[in-house]
Amino acid sequence: MSEVTFKVFRYDPAKDGGKHYQTYKVPLRRGMTVLQGLLYIKERLDPTLAIRFSCRMATCGSCGMMINGLPRLACYTLIEDLKKQTVVVEPLRNYPVIRDLVADFSEFFEKHRWVKPYLIRIDTYTQEKSNTSYLQSDEELERYVQFAYCIKCGLCYAACPVVASDKEFLGPQALAQLYRYLADSRDEGTAERLKSVADGHKLLRCHFAGSCSKVCPKGVDPALAIQLLRREVLLRA
Ligand code: SF4
Ligand code: FES
Repeated sequence: MSEVTFKVFRYDPAKDGGKHYQTYKVPLRRGMTVLQGLLYIKERLDPTLAIRFSCRMATCGSCGMMINGLPRLACYTLIEDLKKQTVVVEPLRNYPVIRDLVADFSEFFEKHRWVKPYLIRIDTYTQEKSNTSYLQSDEELERYVQFAYCIKCGLCYAACPVVASDKEFLGPQALAQLYRYLADSRDEGTAERLKSVADGHKLLRCHFAGSCSKVCPKGVDPALAIQLLRREVLLRA
């Protein structure tokens, strides 16, 4: 059986706090994912390695990391597809590191919450107490549904060059979710949503690098959402 080398970023603030890389040899099986390689290391070679994962099927969004320099889901990345002898794994960029490959998502989720990722309704009493439905046509659903596939994995946030230099910028995930609710025919918060991003750095700092959409594992295309959102702001805010 052939082997693959994993070069893994290590950092434990509770110990010496020093950042370094550690290498491990892992027996390679056909169809093996990067996550399976890391679990082999954790179970057989080094139980101190910290990783975050859950579903193992590109659904929960928790196993994002830099893999050979690009933000990817470890459970969705086949080692053979990397076409490299060495797999280099590091924590996601643009996030503080908690330990080893585990990034701190506090700021990311704070920005997600800031855009109010839920339907804003004037009839809140009816919305909560009534069993009536807010019906939509197929066309109305089409306007936002692709943005609703976001699994909050944060890969787009790690890929964004503006996030790296401007912490006030909300980032591709939060902005795509803002647009997802703005474009929803059931939402009544249009004026409030547009006003919230009309000034300053929150939206307008985006310079359309497009790297967010390139790395998204769910085809959400946050760069498109940001362009559509900017158009609404410029036309209506
Ligand atoms: S937009 Fe895509 S890359 Fe960004 S958090 Fe959502 S699923 Fe992940
Ligand atoms: S473990 Fe859930 S997305 Fe990878």
